[in-house]
Amino acid sequence: MSPDRRADPALVIRRAEASDAPTLGLMHAEVFLELYFGVLPESTLAQLSPEAMAALWHRFVSRGERYVQWVAELGGDPVGFVGTGPGREIGYEAGTELYFLVVAPGVRRRGIARALLRQADPDYLWVWEENRAARTFYRKQKFFPDSVARDGSLFGAPLREVRMSR
Ligand SMILES: CC(C)(COP(=O)(O)OP(=O)(O)OC[C@H]1O[C@@H](n2cnc3c(N)ncnc32)[C@H](O)[C@@H]1OP(=O)(O)O)[C@@H](O)C(=O)NCCC(=O)NCCS
Repeated sequence: MSPDRRADPALVIRRAEASDAPTLGLMHAEVFLELYFGVLPESTLAQLSPEAMAALWHRFVSRGERYVQWVAELGGDPVGFVGTGPGREIGYEAGTELYFLVVAPGVRRRGIARALLRQADPDYLWVWEENRAARTFYRKQKFFPDSVARDGSLFGAPLREVRMSR
């Protein structure tokens, strides 16, 4: 495909709302399983249920104006989402950090994540070191590793992460 390929013209990107919480919570829980089954302890994965993620989504959408989430829709159905907020490390608070970016498995490689990222316009992000697909995606969008890695954690389970910025 050409690097100038644009996302599907039927794609709509809009702000997330409280009423999206069950749908986005389910998608979020499914992608955690896809990424981390066999990696994170089962006890951690069990905490990331659709219900728990829906409850978190209710909190995400009402956290304040610097916390912004966008939903991608195709034909009226949510197929992806992105969330940003203030940088969470000391010295980065003024910047915008990408907290999460997810596209449903059935509609990947159609430019949806690229469109979501363009809309969210973050300065930097942390990504699991072994998430090659995401690291390749971010590199293609001109985010580059800035030589900083950390032993991060996801819901209390350790996860090695690298920082990418532009
Ligand atoms: C990473 C992810 C968000 C990419 O979403 P997507 O909508 O498929 O990405 P796009 O179609 O916008 O991809 C744009 C470009 O990035 C690169 N890219 C995307 N996915 C890739 C993959 N799996 N392998 C290699 N390159 C990839 C390609 O260059 C692609 O362009 P092309 O399809 O014309 O070759 C998606 O795979 C996903 O949701 N993964 C699970 C969740 C996740 O890992 N999120 C990121 C960490 S929080």
